[in-house]
Amino acid sequence: MPLLDILEYPDPRLLTVAQPVDVVDDDLRALIDDMAETMYAAPGVGLAATQVNVHVRLVIVDVSETRDQLQVFINPEILERDGEQSCEEGCLSVPGIYDTVTRAARIKVRALGRDGVPFEIEAEEMLAVCLQHEFDHLEGKVFVDYLSRLKQSRIRTRLEKRARRR
Ligand code: NI
Repeated sequence: MPLLDILEYPDPRLLTVAQPVDVVDDDLRALIDDMAETMYAAPGVGLAATQVNVHVRLVIVDVSETRDQLQVFINPEILERDGEQSCEEGCLSVPGIYDTVTRAARIKVRALGRDGVPFEIEAEEMLAVCLQHEFDHLEGKVFVDYLSRLKQSRIRTRLEKRARRR
C-alpha cells in the first residue's frame, strides 16, 4: 500500500470542509488502511482524511503506547463536551511546530466504525485532545488557528520557507 502525501500548512486545501461519508465500503476501508500506514510511518497519533487531500468525514487515531490500537471515526459528531484542558499539540500538517491549545477535557462522540456500525464513546485526556484536533481538520481548521495572529504569521513564514527548500 502506498504512503499518502500529507498536505502542509498553509496549503489552502486544508481549509476544505469535508463531506459526509455516504457508504462505508471497501474503497473507504482501503483509504483507511493507507491512512493508517501513513500515520504510523510519519509517525503521528492521528490523521484526518482532509490531511491527505480526501475531503470526507473520516478520522483515524491511535494514542496507545504500543501503536496497535487504531480507532476509526466516520461521520463523527461530538454529542457532549465538559471541562477544559490545555495541552501542547503538534500536527503532521504543521511539521516541527508545537503549541498549547485549550480544549474540552471530556467529550462524548458518536461515529461509524470501519464496519459502518454506529458507536459512541466517551474520551478524556489525550484521546479527547486528539479527537477534537482531528475533527477540526474536517471543518477546515488547524490548531494554528487557535494561536495569536503573530504566531500564525511566524509559523506561516517558517513553513513557506521550508516548502521552498524542497
Ligand atoms: Ni493535525
